[in-house]
Amino acid sequence: MVKASLCVLVTLVLAVIAAQAQAVSPAKTTQAVMDAVVKQEVENAINCNPGVGAALVRLVFHDCWVRGCDASVLLDKTPSSSSVEKKAANNIGLAGFDVIDSIKARLHDVSCADIVVFAGRESARILSKGSIDYTLAPGRLDGVVSSAAEADATLPEASFSFQELKDNFNRTGFSVEDLVILSGAHSIGVAHRTSFQDRLDAATQTPIDPEYQTALRYRVNVDGHKTPNPTEKNNIRDMSPFFQGVSGYNSSGVNLYTPEAGALDNSYYTANLQKMVLFKSDWELNQDPTHFAGDKLIEYRDNAADWDLDFSDAMARLSSLTSSGPKSEVRKHCRRTNSY
Ligand code: HEM
Repeated sequence: MVKASLCVLVTLVLAVIAAQAQAVSPAKTTQAVMDAVVKQEVENAINCNPGVGAALVRLVFHDCWVRGCDASVLLDKTPSSSSVEKKAANNIGLAGFDVIDSIKARLHDVSCADIVVFAGRESARILSKGSIDYTLAPGRLDGVVSSAAEADATLPEASFSFQELKDNFNRTGFSVEDLVILSGAHSIGVAHRTSFQDRLDAATQTPIDPEYQTALRYRVNVDGHKTPNPTEKNNIRDMSPFFQGVSGYNSSGVNLYTPEAGALDNSYYTANLQKMVLFKSDWELNQDPTHFAGDKLIEYRDNAADWDLDFSDAMARLSSLTSSGPKSEVRKHCRRTNSY
């Protein structure tokens, strides 16, 4: 209750600062101001709702993978547009849009595309306690096209095979190594049951630790389907000691307590090698016929610092994918194009 009121208060103070800045300062935003505002807004958002950090990291992938980093994922549907990226099946659970809006309210001349990648970097920094960091240049422009069909055709799916994942990453100039590195983002956040239902059903399951599977089945059905599509934590590290115990999770090498649960770190690889990951696509990394991906899982499980560095490098390249849209602009509002 006290935390919620504090969050509202901080948000109001930030809104007043934004209004004042707008009134007195039409000058171009400097990099230092941009960094400070993004830091303040993202920190405040994560303090109010820790889950939003994961959402902002995912938003970078889902924006930049489709038409490059052009904020196409932020556009709302208009009466004249057909379904937008946000509504794509592969964008289930996408969030963090309100954080982007509050940053934009303070940085009018910064593109929404820049805000997405800078907010994603800040989230990664905070969730990794500074272990993940990378340099980003500003200058992205906002696109004017957003299509659900295009997002569904472009983003990888949790049901993909290793070959499909590899092809999907190769198409955007990313390697199998990048696939293994970036999948480590599943050390944080949550997923809806429909995204991993295939792992729970005997008819469709891919190799999954049987105790983990039984415990998961219980968790997602515990309220007798009263919640139609409940969410579950991506990382067994973030689940209760009881759940870990009944699943037989071996957490050696994983820091369960500091930084607190929710850290963006290499713990995904420990879980993956125990077949305790939610998505088929996670498990498929063990299916590379050359064993290259499988060897990388072991390497990153055993070397946290290597993963931090390689993840930072891959996120910087992801955040630099150029836009392929027909026309671009710096939007006035992140949810609509300037001509709307
Ligand atoms: C390799 C292919 C990938 C597939 C198939 C995939 C699939 C998914 C799915 C199905 C979800 C859960 C959505 C839901 O049910 O709500 C999810 C969540 C998430 N993904 Fe991925 N993903 C992939 C790669 C990535 C990459 C490259 C990143 C970031 C760099 C990423 C970051 C995340 C994060 C942080 C979440 C949790 C979001 C939250 O809690 O709001 N994923 N992913």
